[in-house]
Amino acid sequence: EPLGNRQRIQALSAHREQVVEALNQINFDGGHIRRMIETFEQQIQLANSPDEMQRQQTDLFWENTFVRRLLDGTENGTYLGMDLGGTNFRLVRVDLRDGEATTATRYYSLGKGLLVGPSSELFDYIAVCLKSFLKEEKFANKILPLGFTFSFPSRQTSLKHSTISTWTKSITCTDGPGLDSAVLLEEAIARLGVETLPAGVEVVARISDTTGTLLAGNLLDKNCKIGLILGTGSNAAFVEYTHNIEKWDACYNDEDPSDVVVINCEFGAFGDNGCLDFMKTEFDKELDTHSNHPGSYTFEKHYSGHYLGELVRLALIKLVRAGCLFADQPSALLEERWSFTTAHVTAIESDSQETTTNTMSVLAEFGIPNPTADDVLLVQEVCELMSTRGAYIVATAMVVLLNHINLPEVTIAVDGSLYEHHPKYHNNMVKLISTWCPQTKTTLRLVKDGSGQGGALVAAISEKTLPH
Ligand code: GLC
Repeated sequence: EPLGNRQRIQALSAHREQVVEALNQINFDGGHIRRMIETFEQQIQLANSPDEMQRQQTDLFWENTFVRRLLDGTENGTYLGMDLGGTNFRLVRVDLRDGEATTATRYYSLGKGLLVGPSSELFDYIAVCLKSFLKEEKFANKILPLGFTFSFPSRQTSLKHSTISTWTKSITCTDGPGLDSAVLLEEAIARLGVETLPAGVEVVARISDTTGTLLAGNLLDKNCKIGLILGTGSNAAFVEYTHNIEKWDACYNDEDPSDVVVINCEFGAFGDNGCLDFMKTEFDKELDTHSNHPGSYTFEKHYSGHYLGELVRLALIKLVRAGCLFADQPSALLEERWSFTTAHVTAIESDSQETTTNTMSVLAEFGIPNPTADDVLLVQEVCELMSTRGAYIVATAMVVLLNHINLPEVTIAVDGSLYEHHPKYHNNMVKLISTWCPQTKTTLRLVKDGSGQGGALVAAISEKTLPH
């Protein structure tokens, strides 16, 4: 079944052939879906292998989070969550009363300079935010347990400690890889002066946003077994039985009676070894070459928020060069890399079939105040094709996880601005999942700020976790 509203393209008779040729490669069809499922399953086998040589052949981390239990409703206390992951930084307070959570969240913006300098400057800034949060929230506790949601690929060695592998998304700090994010945070707090904080803080855990979203989702719905992020980047975590994990005999404490553990797939990097080359379009390749981290994080570059706008821009530019779009009104701004953002795509797709208000105002912003009717249709079409492909790709990853979990009913908790704001990602994902995984009754549920709330929740869980 072809994607998008092909009748609209048919209407563009003058350049029909060039347009169809340029856009056909964006289709993500049944053949792609089947092949991606097969490839993903093979890569999981490698990632899960007890043989290190095999594990090195894949870029999926399939990482032990050391989170061995979800909340069971007996938790009481006040916990802090700190969420550093992409464009925003958040601090969260969660008060738990017999498992019922009351949450207060504050948002802080990260200046561009912090994202490219030494990591100590970034951590110094978040320590200052923590200090003001502690002052504003007026905590009664002497010592507040803090869970750090730090959403960059890391190798976890205990609930608290992990080693950063690389930066992704918009961060290109001059150092970081090889360091421990929990220690970086503790060092920044120490530089600020522990005695200057209005309350004591103990960093007890580090998780990624996927695990956080899963924990927050599970608090609302016990069928929630997967946490998915569809924001600047994209990744998922899920609840796994320990007996399914072939690679970690020695990793967890045998005295822990729990038979489950949360796995952080870290699937943004899926495909870095070339296994997804079959589905790359010329737009994916060009985007990668000019991205912050070329050759890395292949999978999420196909659809997540940091990239979707640029993919659309590259396709639009191809049509401009072929003489099919904006023939009389070249846009210098559209020629600029990364000028077209996912927020623009979301705005354009929020127009209904009959309206063009948002599309017109985005085009005006790009210096095209008087587009032709064909221009408008084509821009809408390219956005729709690219975002439908994106939704199908990430939904295919969910099908693989759902098959792996193999339960009759599963809720997927989703956090992230792309999923929250884009008008069609949800429906397109639901459509694909129900077609390709009919045996599981699947619900996709927005858990807004689950990522940061989960940081506080894991702090509560850490109190019930045996030391490693
Ligand atoms: C990137 C990070 C990953 C995170 C995801 C979503 O893929 O590497 O850790 O979960 O973005 O924010």
